[in-house]
Amino acid sequence: MMRKTSFPRSTRATLYLVAYSGVAALMATLPDARAEDAGLVEKGRYIATAADCFACHTSPGGKPFAGGYPITTPVGTIYSTNITPAPRTGIGNYTKAEFFDAVRRGVGHGNKRLYPAMPYTSYAGVTDSDMEALYAFFNSAVAPVEQENKPDTVRFPFNIRSGLVLWNWLYLDTRPFQAQPRETPQITHGRYLVNHLEHCGTCHTPRTIFMGPASMRYLAGSSVGAWYAPNITTDKVAGIADWTDDDLRNYLKTGHALNKGQAAGPMAEVVTNSTQFLTSNDVNAMIAYLREVPAVASDEKRSRTSYGTADRPEDAARGQASPEDRGWKIFSGSCASCHQAEGQGINAYPSLTHNSTTGSPNARNLVATILTGVERRSGDNSVFMPAFGSGALWVNRLSDQDIADLSNFILKTFGNPSVQVDASYVAKQRAALTP
Ligand code: HEC
Ligand code: HEC
Ligand code: HEC
Repeated sequence: MMRKTSFPRSTRATLYLVAYSGVAALMATLPDARAEDAGLVEKGRYIATAADCFACHTSPGGKPFAGGYPITTPVGTIYSTNITPAPRTGIGNYTKAEFFDAVRRGVGHGNKRLYPAMPYTSYAGVTDSDMEALYAFFNSAVAPVEQENKPDTVRFPFNIRSGLVLWNWLYLDTRPFQAQPRETPQITHGRYLVNHLEHCGTCHTPRTIFMGPASMRYLAGSSVGAWYAPNITTDKVAGIADWTDDDLRNYLKTGHALNKGQAAGPMAEVVTNSTQFLTSNDVNAMIAYLREVPAVASDEKRSRTSYGTADRPEDAARGQASPEDRGWKIFSGSCASCHQAEGQGINAYPSLTHNSTTGSPNARNLVATILTGVERRSGDNSVFMPAFGSGALWVNRLSDQDIADLSNFILKTFGNPSVQVDASYVAKQRAALTP
């Protein structure tokens, strides 16, 4: 009995030849269409970068766009799906219309309603021409990967997807994007980028009890898991009115703005995967639009970047740095080698005074940074601070009590002294960072 089909050598050569000439003939008929598509595909690559499809649809260490990235929500964990053009487990069988409906209406195959963890309410305003380009990119430039989707753990009754029809009725605006009267073309373009492609509000706008965007507090700051996406409205105290255009440009291009802030956690991903690649025109348009966003105040009294003076640290003035302070000891042992004894920073190690994270009205980003460290790339530059949480590899792990004492020392000495935390706060943050 023959174990497998095998052709004699000469026959095999002929088969290859026939197959090859078939492909060659096909290619010969296509060059014009392909050249035209190449431009569209490249445009689509840029749109996909601006829309940051990669960040959510790629799991750490996984194949690009094959899904499986966990998104924790108050009602359970949702995994992003495989959006490579693989026919069985990906979106290889989606027609163009189905693709448009999934991205802009949150409707998947078989009328399956997508959870708004997929930011289709933002993408609803993406123009037809940008959608065409996205479709071309996903179909022809993304490698197909057959990888099963992971089931979500969303709890009853939120797992009844048809309930999303009602939610969409409340929060999905299907009107096409339009310029507004008295708006310059640059601001119109910036508004398109911020609200639709870059979907900045999905993190920076707080949510209502139904998890929809609280439009009265547009961009006024919101928790994102263990992190906090700060108020980026034009408010003089609570917002980013004191950031210059250069500060914002540096932040969006590199994740670092001197004596203002640095991007860690989810914002580090935004910079690494998306904003660093935007053209200067696009970044400037976003900044021009952010300057138009209505100011929304909160109850803080001072701007978060105003605490401490880099050249005359406030520890001496406030008399806090006593050797008896446990927090000070931990700071000296674990942090001062980089951030310096008086928190003033050096070279790539930022000062902890004039730092939006230590001056923040809450300690979320401070504690989350200590637990997870910082990892970010822009251009050839890699930024790295080790994690001191349970996953720490390079340094001593710090306990909840250690991190509480350390944070309180930092807040009192370099940052906003009215914010203090305890070990149970740190424990909650630690749990929120463990998927
Ligand atoms: C903030 C995270 C996030 C971003 C950004 C994001 N997605 Fe998604 N996407 C998801 C999640 C989560 C799901 C699965 C939702 C569900 O299971 O209901 C999903 C589902 C989808 C689906 C449906 C696939 C299917 O299996 O039916 C498509 C298509 C899709 N996304 C395309 C895109 C494209 C294109 C982009 C960029 C323009 C993008 N997504 C950006 C999180 C995201
Ligand atoms: C995935 C969630 C997410 C998205 C999307 C997002 N941000 Fe952020 N953003 C954050 C978080 C979290 C921080 C705090 C980071 C830190 O301090 O380490 C932040 C910080 C910032 C800061 C610095 C504020 C400060 O006081 O430190 C600016 C400016 C900013 N984001 C602008 C934007 C813009 C513009 C967009 C859209 C292009 C955007 N963000 C999209 C989560 C997000
Ligand atoms: C090996 C050097 C190193 C050590 C040790 C270190 N850091 Fe950092 N830290 C960094 C770098 C690098 C950054 C990011 C700089 C940037 O974003 O441009 C950073 C950023 C920060 C930020 C700002 C994060 C944000 O999201 O805004 C805080 C707060 C911080 N570190 C606190 C600490 C504390 C507390 C310790 C001690 C437990 C510590 N660091 C130890 C190098 C270090």
